[in-house]
Amino acid sequence: MATAKQQNTLDKVGGATRQIPRHVAVVMDGNGRWAKARFMPRLFGHKRGVEAARKVIRACSDAGVECLTLFAFSSENWKRPQEEVNGLMALFMSVLERETPSMLRHQIRLRFIGERSGFPEQLQAKIYQVEQETCHCTGLTLLIAANYGGRWDIMQAVRRLLEQTQTEGLDIADLSEAHLTQALSTAGLPEPDLFIRTGGEQRISNFLLWQLAYAELYFTDKLWPEFDEEGLQQAFAAYASRERRFGMTGEQVKTTGRSC
Ligand code: IPE
Ligand code: IPE
Ligand code: MG
Repeated sequence: MATAKQQNTLDKVGGATRQIPRHVAVVMDGNGRWAKARFMPRLFGHKRGVEAARKVIRACSDAGVECLTLFAFSSENWKRPQEEVNGLMALFMSVLERETPSMLRHQIRLRFIGERSGFPEQLQAKIYQVEQETCHCTGLTLLIAANYGGRWDIMQAVRRLLEQTQTEGLDIADLSEAHLTQALSTAGLPEPDLFIRTGGEQRISNFLLWQLAYAELYFTDKLWPEFDEEGLQQAFAAYASRERRFGMTGEQVKTTGRSC
């Protein structure tokens, strides 16, 4: 019986039905409600949310997931009370400072996606520093979506492509989906196979709009601070039970022997 890691390697070379998703994308929702239920400030929930994120990062890394994208702060979250926004900025800063040695130990390559110029300069510099320090890591690629919006991502990709039509002679008539995919902030990474949202809401909230086109969607009522390795395994089990058809018929999928 192959381990999860071996299974993933087998799948990469083709043949077997994949049990473990290559790319997992998570909307970590429910921190505020979790804190409120305990008569605590919302920031307390965000701090506990960091613990849940650590567990999930470790479990994904151990399972052989290649890429994990965590939605940490949306382009719409600036609308929240100033105190909460300030608390979140300070939390990002302290978590980056504290967790870098552990990321290096576990060979985790960290990247941020989103409009980083919206962050305080100190935080921008820290993000850049940690990205540089971990860029040679060969394990899990951890993407933190911060000041991220799916619409923002598509817009910046379109702008980039329009520039290329002017500076690199790219012909508008030749523009393809592949060009747009390559201009997104997730360029070069596999598309998410599994989307997880905790906290009971069943919506995408402007997360990876283009990239989620064929992701399997998994929703759980568990609030993010309560989510852990077991919750992740349940999501993986649900994923493994799905038949991914990509527009084909179930029979076609069975004859080619692949569901992803
Ligand atoms: C998600 O939890 C974390 C962020 C958006 C930063 P919430 O803060 O949205 O928690 P709820 O949805 O209010 O419970
Ligand atoms: C989505 O959660 C964003 C993050 C988890 C960072 P929200 O709590 O902001 O989403 P809505 O407002 O309920 O759609
Ligand atoms: Mg929420």
